[in-house]
Amino acid sequence: MAVLEVLPYPNESLRRKARPVTEFDASLARLVADMEETMNAEDGVGLAATQVGVDLQLLLVHPYAFKGDEARDEPVVVVINPEIVWQSDETITAEEGCLSFPDVFIHVARPSKVRLRALNLKAEPFEIEGEGLGARALLHEVDHLRGVVMIDHVSFLQRQRALKKHQKHQADLAAEARRKAAKANKAKVPTAG
Ligand code: NI
Repeated sequence: MAVLEVLPYPNESLRRKARPVTEFDASLARLVADMEETMNAEDGVGLAATQVGVDLQLLLVHPYAFKGDEARDEPVVVVINPEIVWQSDETITAEEGCLSFPDVFIHVARPSKVRLRALNLKAEPFEIEGEGLGARALLHEVDHLRGVVMIDHVSFLQRQRALKKHQKHQADLAAEARRKAAKANKAKVPTAG
């Protein structure tokens, strides 16, 4: 297993429409295991394949989103080729984050309940319902598979504010990486004498 790089916005992979999964083989299982490790390493509630540069209709949601703390140790929910079969007219506006926008949180209105039909890793069909955070997580990740990101749901001004924060955070990360690289380079220089 490996922790994969989560692509930050505006990586073009985040705007791609993912293809349906057709091969349920060992490499798909490996991808799911790597995505699970990545999601947990980044403390995410969900992760879509497009966020790690893989153009497939595959998303993971942490069971925490459905059952809270008591589900900490339950297996991750694997959702393949999802279809939204029903969503409530009632919406809830709540704070939302995304691993492709680390450190940015915005208020997004989403249906309070949703039901999806999908396949699991064995290509078996199942339905899953989410309410509150569960609905929010499922819909956020389904959006990713359609090339939609959370800032697409808010007003122009809110989007500008979120992007400004995101760009500042990305610049800080890049500066930190440069500092680390410079330090590592220095350490490699052999000392004479
Ligand atoms: Ni996201």
